[in-house]
Parts: sequence; C-alpha cells; structure tokens
Amino acid sequence: MATVAKLFETMEYGPAPESDVPALEWIKQHDNGRFGHFINGRWVAPTAGQYFETINPATKGVLARVAQGSKADIDAAVAAANAAAPTWAGLPAHARARYLYALAREVQRHARLLAVLESLDNGKPIRETRDLDIPLVARHFYHHAGWAQLRDTEFPGYAPVGVVGQIIPWNFPLLMVAWKVAPALAAGNTVILKPAEFTPLTALCFAGIAEEAGLPPGVFNVVTGDGATGKVLVEHLDVQKIAFTGSTEVGRIIRKATAGSDKKLTLELGGKSPFIVFEDADLDSVVEGVVDAIWFNQGQVCCAGSRLLVQEGVADRLTQKLRARMEKLRVGSPLDKAVDMGAIVAPVQLERIRGLVEKGVEEGAKMWQPSWACPTEGYFYPPTLFTDVSPAATIAQVEIFGPVLVSMTFRTPKEAVELANNTPYGLAASLWSENINLALDVAPKLKAGVVWINSTNLFDAASGFGGYRESGFGREGGREGMYEYLKPGWESHPPRGIALASAAPEQGRSADPGPAARGAQVLPSIDRTYKLFIGGKQARPDQGYSRKIVAPDGRALGEVAEGNRKDVRNAVEAAHAAEGWGRSTGHLRAQILYFIAENLATRGPEFAARVGQAEVEASVSRLFTYAAWADKWGGAVHQTPIRGVTLAMNEPVGVLGIAAPDDFPLLGFVSLLAPAIAVGNTVIVVPSEPNPIAAAEFYTVLETSDVPAGVINVITGAKDALAKVLAEHDDVDGVWYFGNAAGVKAVELASAANMKRTWTFAQTRDWLDPRQGEGREFLRHASEVKNIWIPYGE
Ligand code: NAI
Repeated sequence: MATVAKLFETMEYGPAPESDVPALEWIKQHDNGRFGHFINGRWVAPTAGQYFETINPATKGVLARVAQGSKADIDAAVAAANAAAPTWAGLPAHARARYLYALAREVQRHARLLAVLESLDNGKPIRETRDLDIPLVARHFYHHAGWAQLRDTEFPGYAPVGVVGQIIPWNFPLLMVAWKVAPALAAGNTVILKPAEFTPLTALCFAGIAEEAGLPPGVFNVVTGDGATGKVLVEHLDVQKIAFTGSTEVGRIIRKATAGSDKKLTLELGGKSPFIVFEDADLDSVVEGVVDAIWFNQGQVCCAGSRLLVQEGVADRLTQKLRARMEKLRVGSPLDKAVDMGAIVAPVQLERIRGLVEKGVEEGAKMWQPSWACPTEGYFYPPTLFTDVSPAATIAQVEIFGPVLVSMTFRTPKEAVELANNTPYGLAASLWSENINLALDVAPKLKAGVVWINSTNLFDAASGFGGYRESGFGREGGREGMYEYLKPGWESHPPRGIALASAAPEQGRSADPGPAARGAQVLPSIDRTYKLFIGGKQARPDQGYSRKIVAPDGRALGEVAEGNRKDVRNAVEAAHAAEGWGRSTGHLRAQILYFIAENLATRGPEFAARVGQAEVEASVSRLFTYAAWADKWGGAVHQTPIRGVTLAMNEPVGVLGIAAPDDFPLLGFVSLLAPAIAVGNTVIVVPSEPNPIAAAEFYTVLETSDVPAGVINVITGAKDALAKVLAEHDDVDGVWYFGNAAGVKAVELASAANMKRTWTFAQTRDWLDPRQGEGREFLRHASEVKNIWIPYGE
C-alpha cells in the first residue's frame, strides 16, 4: 500500500492556474487594448501616433498596444509636472500623506489584478507577484505616507528637488514604480515616469489608480516608449532630477548626458553579487537560499546572488544537494501557482543568456542543467549551474541576468572576501555561516550596499537599497532614500553678497587683511615655496614647477608647488595605504580632529594674517563640529518586517578626491576635509587655486596633530585639471568638486569611467554660515550606507 511519504515522492503536480480573464478584460476595456500616455491627469494619444506591442513572454501572444513617446509627449508631460509642482510642494505635509495613503490602499484593493497583469507582461510567477512584488509595492506607499507626514519635522530646512524624471527596467515593473514614485511624491516633487518597453502595463494600471486616488493632475505622469523616449526625458532642461534603474551601460550614458546640467542623479545599476558559503553553514538552508538568490524572477534581479563562493570542504556536498534541488524545480506557465520559475522577459534577453552560457562552456567551465525540458511555446530557460569556473572567466565577471549560477571555491575567509570583491560592481552580498562572529567580521569587508546574513533578497521600504562602484550611487528606501528627493532649502535662494566672491575668486576674497592688519608682514616677507603634502611628508612636485601666488595689490605672497597627474597618482597610492583609518574608532578620529583644531587655534594669528580672523575661528569651530560627529555618526537599526535586525552602517566612501572652493581658502578647505576624515575616508585635497597658501601651510598643523601618514594629502596647482585627473582615476572612490560650471561638467563626465560618486557644486555657498557650511549633508556625502540584514532565532 502506498504510504503518504511515497505519495509525496511519486505524485505528479497538478496545475493550479490563476485566471487571466479579469486582467485581459481590464486591458480590453482600455480602448480595446490600446494605451496612450497619462499626462496631466488625462489619457492622451501619442503626438506622433505611434504604438508598439507588448507581449506575453510565456505565450508570445500580444497583450496590448502601447504609445511610443516622442519629444512632444515628453515636453507635454514635463510642462504638466512643472505647472503642478508649486501647488503640490506647497501642500501641508499631512495632505500629501493622505494622497500616499490613498495610493497604498488602492494598490491593495487592486492587488490581484496587478499581480496577474505583472505575471502576464513580465513572465514572472504569480506566486512572486502575489506574495512579494505587490505587497512590497503597498508597503512602500504606506511607509512613504509616513515620510510625507513627517517631512517637515524630520527634514527641516529641506525642499523638494522639483520635477523628477524616472526611468525604470522590466524586471520588477511595478515595484520599481513604487520605489521611485513613493519617495518622490512624499518629498513634494512631481514626476514623469518612463516604464520599460517590455513591461509597461502595471505602470499604466497604476496611473489609473492615481486617477482613482484623486491625485492632482500633473503630479504623476506616465510616458511610455523605449530608450529614445528615456533619452529625451534625461536631456530635458526643465527636469531637475533623474532617477534610473537598469543596465550599467545605460547608466553610464545617463551620467554623461547629465554631466554639468545641475540635475540631481541616482543610478541603480547592475551587479554580480557574491553568495558566500562558509563550511559551518547549514547547507539545507543554503540550498533554499540559492533558489531564492538566483532562480527567483528567473535570475533577472540586479542583486541576484549569481556567484556562489563555497569553502572548499563543503563544495562537493553543496553541488550535489543543489543539483538534486534543481532537478525538482518547476519551470512553466507564470500563472500556475505551482511553478518556481516563469518565462524570460523577451527574446533578446533569452539570446543574451544563451550566448553567455555558450561562452562559459567555451571557456572551460562545467555546465549542468536538470534532466527535464522547459516548455517550448514561450521564452523559457532552465536553471543552470556552472562549476570549475575561473574567477577571471567571462561568466564570473559579466552580469548574465538569467537563471545561471557560477560556482567557485575558497579556502579562508580572507580569500572569500577577495573573491567576493573581485568585480567592478558593489550592489549586494549574501553570506552564510552559523558563526555570528565570522559573519559580522566579514560583512563590513564586502564591497556591497546591502549584505544579507543567512538570508538573501530581502527588501523593505524602511531599509535603503543601492550600491556603489559600477552598481551606481544613491539609495532607495528609508531615510537615506528620502534625501535623494530633497535638497537644502537655502540652495534655491543663495544669499546675497556671496556671489561676488566666487564670481571673481582671483580677486582674493578679502584673503588678505591688508598691510596694516598684517603688522610684521609690512616688511618684505621671506620668500617661501610650499611643497605638496603626500603620505605624511612634504613632497617636491613631479615636474619641479611651482607657481607664484600674488596678492590683489600685486605683492608676491609665496610660491606653491604645481601638482600634476603623477603627483595625484602618488597621493592616491598614499591614501589607499592609509585605509586603516576607516577601521579606526570614531573616538580616535575625534581626538585627532580636536588636536588639529587645537593646533590651528595656537597658530591662529599667523593664519588670520592670511585669511582673516573670522575664517580661522570658523575653521576651529568646524573641526570641533566634526570631532563631535566622529563618534556619533553611528547609523541606525531599521524596523524591517523580519525576525531579526537590519543594521544600517555608515561606512566611509573610501578614497575621496576633493577640490576645495576658491573663496574661503582656509574655511572651505577645512569644511570639506574635516567631515571626510571624520567618517573615515582618506583624502586628496586640491585647495583654492588663487589662494592656496593657507591650505598649503596647513600641513604644518597636520604634522603636529598625529594625523596618520596618507590620511590627508594636499596637492596644489591648476584646480580644474587636477580635479579631472581625480575624477578619471579608477582607484578614487568619490570626488567632491566646488568650483565653476565647466569644472562640474568635466568632473561628472570623467567620473562615468568607473561610475564613482560625485558631489559637485557650482553655486556660491556662505561657508561662514553653519547651515550651509557644515552638518549632516556633508557627512552623508562622506558615507556609504551598508544595510546588513541579520535574521535570528532557532
Ligand atoms: P536598459 O538599461 O537598456 O533599460 C532600462 C530602462 O532604460 C528602460 O526603461 C529603457 O527604455 C531605458 N533606456 C534605454 N536606453 C536609454 C537611454 N539612452 N536613455 C534613457 N533611458 C534609456 O536595460 P535592458 O536593455 O532592458 O536590459 C539590458 C541588460 O541590462 C540586461 O541584460 C541586464 O543585464 C541589465 N539590466 C539590469 C537591470 C538592473 O536592475 N540592474 C534591470 C534591467 C536590465
């Protein structure tokens, strides 16, 4: 007689199909399956009259026809968003919160329709859209209804950015709508959304939801189309911010296209995230983790755990277990509630996966797929495992964006970290060990914006998501995500009187108090040439040139070294060698900052003779500010809905290149280097070009303040040229540039090479005003937030 256990083994799965009828009805009701754009609260036909088809990838059947957006359509949407912006931004916080709350409620009300529509359009299993995508969409709007309510109290002094263009990919079509739109609206911006061409339907359904929720016309607009439509949106002059999720390739194009445009930018790009298994891990949990890491959404996930790194002792056992599990995975109709994997989004993506798998085989890795065959009527691809992969192989380096896992082995935790960090990306990582000490030691060493311990692919609105290096910059979700849609309120109203100083920096902004105030300096001064300061030592410039610095009255003030590309390289090397600074305690960094302040105060009169008393006093106070912050910039514990904790750790960006403003030669310099080193970065600072002497002289203060060699490096010379070299340098992790519009553009363009973070500013800033010259804004730019998810419990 058959036992229950035997039945479990032998029984065939029966299909459990979800009906597609309500979703197809919804499509049909909309002009018989033809969709225009949603602009200014109305459905409008595309100006050029062009439509394209959107396909069900599981059947290859046409689902609907969707408008191809042209320049005229984008113009109309931007005009509507612009017109709606002042009223929307001016609403009381509570009113915006009510709208976001209404959106959350409407999403819940239409949850099933949205889940089915998403599965039809994208090919992902209904189990995922129903249980993950759509609930997370609702959660995002709820969470941000909260931020909308708290905006004025939690972000005092901040204002919305204005009109925001958002471009999203096809892998999580509606979830990306939520990640983008909820914080933008909560902060008080208006939006033009461009969904991916393969998956526009849920965004269009959401436009209907916005209509039902009574969102004022123009606050939220949807223009559909392909990359050409996205390009027009990116280049539009009346858009103040672009938020993009998609490929690194297009991210780089957008970085270049927005360079120098004064648009705020966030990029969430690709990844090749490691999934690290230590030999003491619970291997059965690991197997389920791998299923979630790489076969969730057919592997079309930016943070997919696509590189399995296994400690040697358990590698064979894990491979066997994985193969057994893969044999039992089910690929089939996305609307069948019993399938694990659905269809690949489009033929082009299927071809890309096939091509990369072929390449993997050609390059000598061992490929394994289950014995069963995929359905043939749609775009399906089986779960695939590669072993014997060399770390330099194409499949170990390139984002495949499909259900393909590549496996490698390591011996020691150190080797695991090296392998894990051996890609240009830095998005996510998952690590598995029963030893919490090991896990918490390794997590901070991983170059990733999010680390999951004994878990994977956990997301929540309360926890910021995003990466660094070629995975982009900026965070979505949480408090840090809100800042991406806000700007300091004073930036819209630059204070009067400051403009003069920066418009004509070469005139020297009262840098010199005049012969009378300088007292002894009325006498001819002893000629002095300031060298560079690299690796804790004075260094002669590579080319041996120096430049004369002349006061407004023509007096020679001294000479400073003329730094060049080679000097920058040496400084970057020194800054990297000093990276232990980032692992030192906040207490130690605070003490050193206090010590710098003390030594500057002692030398106060001498510096005051160069830059005036006010700047020196403010510089001392600023050093105190960041000494105060150094042991208080501690991060947060987020309330995510897991049994465990999510730690948001503020980590240093790494090696920062800083071009200081031309005015405020001492205070501008100190105001930038102090927050950077307080957080644990090491820096290469290029001081004011016309007035570099105070900063050049500053090394004598550093030398007496116990600053470890290489933490602060100072390179004088042609500021814009040096800033560009820093922006081009692959081993510089971020660049801050305070100067002119042409310099901003050059830095932003050059930064696209390795997609480093930039903070650029061509406006004037009153560095004496603490609201403009110090505080959290600076600390945020000096930090990467790493979210570490730690579930607990037996
Ligand atoms: P993509 O980056 O080309 O598309 C993403 C979005 O950007 C779409 O809405 C597209 O219309 C738009 N776009 C394309 N070119 C643009 C331009 N020049 N200016 C403005 N917007 C533009 O991604 P695609 O072609 O769909 O997929 C290609 C590869 O990208 C995939 O194989 C995968 O490796 C990667 N990818 C990564 C994603 C991620 O979340 N990290 C998401 C989607 C794709």
